[in-house]
Amino acid sequence: MIEISHLVKRYADGAVAVNDLSLRLGKRITCILGKNGAGKTTLIRIMSTQLMPTSGSVIINGLDVVKDAAAVRDIISSIPQEVKVMGIATPYDHVSMYLHARGLPDSKIDKASEKALRELDLWGVRDKCTADLSGGMRRKVFVAMAIASGANVIFLDEPTTGLDPISRLEVWSSLKKLRCEIIVTTHYMEEAKELSEEVVLIDHGKVVVQGGVEELLGRFRGRVRAEGPRGDYLIGGLHISYVTKAKAERLVEKGYTIKQVTLEDIFITSGGGSLAD
Ligand SMILES: Nc1ncnc2c1ncn2[C@@H]1O[C@H](COP(=O)(O)OP(=O)(O)OP(=O)(O)O)[C@@H](O)[C@H]1O
Ligand SMILES: [Mg+2]
Repeated sequence: MIEISHLVKRYADGAVAVNDLSLRLGKRITCILGKNGAGKTTLIRIMSTQLMPTSGSVIINGLDVVKDAAAVRDIISSIPQEVKVMGIATPYDHVSMYLHARGLPDSKIDKASEKALRELDLWGVRDKCTADLSGGMRRKVFVAMAIASGANVIFLDEPTTGLDPISRLEVWSSLKKLRCEIIVTTHYMEEAKELSEEVVLIDHGKVVVQGGVEELLGRFRGRVRAEGPRGDYLIGGLHISYVTKAKAERLVEKGYTIKQVTLEDIFITSGGGSLAD
């Protein structure tokens, strides 16, 4: 359970990345979505004790990320958006050294490392220099570290960016198997829908929408998305409206394109704009 209250982050140059944000997270997997620069990474870095907030608080399982930072680090694992591999160390070294540093007994490290590496299909390259792996494989090494960690709360900042479709499936299924709380950022709508129990959209450092995907889609009450020469929303040059199926049939005759509503439509109608911008 994570409780964020009136969180503010103002960087040294005056940029306000998180703007009086309050949020309770308690679902097993939560996806945080938002445009480039929305404040996702800043929020994740504060929650994972890597960045000091300007004001406000974050409490994780009863522990304050500023006052109890050391205790918080014992129960979390975090993968940053930009990861740097230790050049000559192998994937196996990465995972086992990480578990060692976290204090897992030596007798358990071998097995836990193997399990995580196999799950992400990295067992075959476990003894290669990590620097010689592809960018996507390097990302998966870090996901393996997080899933092997046994942490109560795991933060992953865009773990699947740049991964091929099969690798993305591997990452999702390994995350779904974990029993801890997972907070993940992504730009992929499909992923948010498949993976999470709850989505949170942030924009300009504030929460715009929070809820379950099905519950949020239910707000449209059977309406569909119509794109054409006129519409209630102008997004990326597209005019968009949400209309009943009966009205949609008439609009098709006038050249409109009709689509099923998706998560993106929730964001558009909530004022968050399009994530595809
Ligand atoms: N070190 C920094 N100094 C000053 N401003 C920063 C710094 N880091 C981030 N920002 C600003 O804070 C805002 C939020 O950035 P952040 O990296 O949290 O966004 P994001 O949602 O993770 O974006 P992306 O989807 O591109 O990863 C942006 O306006 C960014 O320019
Ligand atoms: Mg980011």
